[in-house]
Amino acid sequence: MANMRPQGILEKYSGLINLPSYSIPLSLSEGNTPLIPIPKIVKSLGGDFELFVKFEGLNPTGSFKDRGMVAAVSEAVGKGAKTIICASTGNTAAAAAAYAARAGIKAVVLIPEGKVARGKLAAVAIYGAQIIQIDGSFDDALKLVQEIAQKLPIALVNSVNPYRLEGQKTAAFEIVDELGQAPDILCIPVGNAGNITSYHMGFTQYGKGIPTFFGVQAEGAAPLVIGKIVEKPETIATAIRIGNPARGKQALEVIQKTNGKIFAVSDAEILDAQKVLASEGIWVEPASAAGLAGLMKEAKAGLDVSGKKVVLVCTGNGLKDLDIVNLPEPIKILPVFEEVQKIL
Ligand code: F0G
Repeated sequence: MANMRPQGILEKYSGLINLPSYSIPLSLSEGNTPLIPIPKIVKSLGGDFELFVKFEGLNPTGSFKDRGMVAAVSEAVGKGAKTIICASTGNTAAAAAAYAARAGIKAVVLIPEGKVARGKLAAVAIYGAQIIQIDGSFDDALKLVQEIAQKLPIALVNSVNPYRLEGQKTAAFEIVDELGQAPDILCIPVGNAGNITSYHMGFTQYGKGIPTFFGVQAEGAAPLVIGKIVEKPETIATAIRIGNPARGKQALEVIQKTNGKIFAVSDAEILDAQKVLASEGIWVEPASAAGLAGLMKEAKAGLDVSGKKVVLVCTGNGLKDLDIVNLPEPIKILPVFEEVQKIL
């Protein structure tokens, strides 16, 4: 029987990913994530359009970061790196830790104080990376790791590393492979702005159309919307709690080139969108619901998407951020049929 193991992205798109020849390709069979239609939400938005979720939470470590990380770590080990480092709000850290484990090298992650979802930290710990918490924000951590990578023989794997984008752009390839062409609109959460930049690279390179980009930030962490650095970013969507995005300028160029829009949604709108997605059976972490929150907000404001194909990039899995979910007190009964029947 044929080997049915799904190819990782480096193998699947080998001719299209620009990695140096010295790279040592790794794989956790990342990518190959589903594009799931969500018709109920379309109905509630009163439209005749097609809406899909690109569910990146189904990657090996539960987020889209695996795509970029497999490329960055493959390059790093190829050039002989024994240690990689990143700043992270959690998902990048988990991906770095997993691929470092796979490659048999050390990973060090710097996280902002107190604001990383526990499931992400658990992942970093179990994969065996070193966790350093700084008394500061993600932006402070990113500055620091850049300095460390300059002064020490340690490879930086944040998305300022170009190979991260090379890997992440494959999500755009997969969407086109499935739809036959690029969608009309892509709604995507924006934090450090690596992902929006990667998707645009991917669609551009594939040559089957480029969607209009809707970049969505959280209100308390929306530097690209307000046009200046946010010193103390704050949002329940901790993954995108970033005040000074490294690729902010590129993100704004993508928005401008595609006639798109960058805007902000409130924490309440994010949590509402998370529940709406769950009502379709898709559980994403809060940051990942920002795309839908943005679309719902625009639809309310009169955006006409009829006849269009819209894709929501849902970047991370809900399982990593358990604390955000209010668990109801369980109903307790004796283990007898009549007792159950009474309460059904
Ligand atoms: N969604 C999730 C779940 C994320 O973890 C991130 C970024 C984003 C969206 C935004 O992507 O930064 O490319 O614009 N998380 C980074 C991290 C910052 O450290 O895991 P971006």
